[in-house]
Amino acid sequence: MLENNTMTGSMDKAQILVDSLPYIRDFNQKIIVICFGASNILNDEEEQEVMRDIALLKSIGMRPIVVHDTRMGYDKFRENKRLAKLIEFCGIKSVGICGMDTQTIRMTLDNDYIPVITPNDIDTEDVIITPQEASRVVAEAIGAEKVIFLGKEDGVHDLETDEIISQMTYSEVKKIRESLIDPKMLLKTKEALTMLDSGIPRVHIINAKIRHAILLELFSVIGIGTMIMSDDAPYYMHEIRYKQRL
Ligand code: ARG
Repeated sequence: MLENNTMTGSMDKAQILVDSLPYIRDFNQKIIVICFGASNILNDEEEQEVMRDIALLKSIGMRPIVVHDTRMGYDKFRENKRLAKLIEFCGIKSVGICGMDTQTIRMTLDNDYIPVITPNDIDTEDVIITPQEASRVVAEAIGAEKVIFLGKEDGVHDLETDEIISQMTYSEVKKIRESLIDPKMLLKTKEALTMLDSGIPRVHIINAKIRHAILLELFSVIGIGTMIMSDDAPYYMHEIRYKQRL
């Protein structure tokens, strides 16, 4: 994509950076687990774009962790390495990790790498461990701020209007689950509730097909998918300020 290097273009960019400051501040040093369950639906270019967005998060002070699934018929350990390389193409250090060893993950974070994790280790090679499950284990052990489900679903839909519900609390999800029929959503919401049960304050369900989905979700108050929060999760300053202005 060509950069807009005109004077108005530069001015727009400056404004966007300034507008991002409250978000950058709120997310500074925060550990964000991205559960990347979209390898089967993204083409190479889209995948590179997602990895670039993740590299961007790191450059502005967050500590992202990627946990990924594996494309049908591909070797998980090779995929792991490949995704880490895509991040390195963007000039950010990244390392592929097999399995959910907290100490190794902690060490890579402390050394400014983005860990890219495949749930299986050599000794658990044939065990089925979903990226969701692995994300939960990692997020809980490492004290993550949030987990982002970046996958095929664009959020929880309202049963009557079919619109995406932007924000829900733990109890609201519990209530709505009784009337959910879509098996995919039943599973996703169950996974989200289990995450919150393990003490992770927020889970986001967003669609990987939407360009810059992660950025749209994090750097706005309304987001792009469904955010599920524990009943007592604190709000960010950027959210509080936004509400005060309304
Ligand atoms: N930017 C905030 C966050 O990352 C709020 C996102 C809101 N998202 C939503 N789907 N309502 O936590």
